[in-house]
Amino acid sequence: MGHHKLKRFAENLTFGNLFQVGFEQLEQEGFALRGRWHEHFGNDNPITLELGCGKGDYTLALARIHPERNFIGVDIKGARLWRGAKTAIEEPLPNVAFIRTRIELIDRFFGPGEVSEVWVTFCDPQPKKPGKRLTSPRFLATYRRFLATGSTLHLKTDSQELYEYTLNEVLPNEECTVLFSTADLYNTPYEGEAKLTQTFYERMFLAEGKPITYIQWKI
Ligand SMILES: C[S@@+](CC[C@H](N)C(=O)[O-])C[C@H]1O[C@@H](n2cnc3c(N)ncnc32)[C@H](O)[C@@H]1O
Repeated sequence: MGHHKLKRFAENLTFGNLFQVGFEQLEQEGFALRGRWHEHFGNDNPITLELGCGKGDYTLALARIHPERNFIGVDIKGARLWRGAKTAIEEPLPNVAFIRTRIELIDRFFGPGEVSEVWVTFCDPQPKKPGKRLTSPRFLATYRRFLATGSTLHLKTDSQELYEYTLNEVLPNEECTVLFSTADLYNTPYEGEAKLTQTFYERMFLAEGKPITYIQWKI
């Protein structure tokens, strides 16, 4: 592993806004802030998650315009999370935190009803493994364990396949309401938070000329 990455991993351990718990510790002790995130943030403001957040571009952009909400970015890659956590400390953005974990374990970090919004930003479309897609019925069932009734979910992706799978195969069988969808966000008359920022990966996909798709739904 490169020196650069090791340095970031070491610095991650010093960040008060970045949480990482090993699987064994999660199994044995659970996560201390589960159901008690208000103690970390010092308020009861609603919580939004960004899943597969990478460097946390959406988490940071939303947190800047919504100081009345809390935002938590989730990813497995520590070197990417370092960027988001460092920026949140430097600005500062006290309404931002990050969790380093596999999203498969995300329900271990939140109590029932503790989260009210989820953004899935440019996740791996998993073309050969539908069960691993972050909008598959299996993952939606996991999110429901901690989502408040009436929560809003957002999917931004360059993958037409993931977009169509989510919109046409998954959501019609979930008890939810699609609020908005577009197969080409930047050629659609829409002004909303899906256009708030362009993430690191989004900028790469746009440079390749790929249309960006977006779905917003409520459960
Ligand atoms: C294509 S990148 C997108 C990153 C960021 N959202 C962006 O748009 O720039 C996908 C991210 O999802 C993370 N990821 C993929 N599967 C994951 C999983 N099962 N658990 C946690 N993170 C995951 C990867 O580490 C990666 O940072």
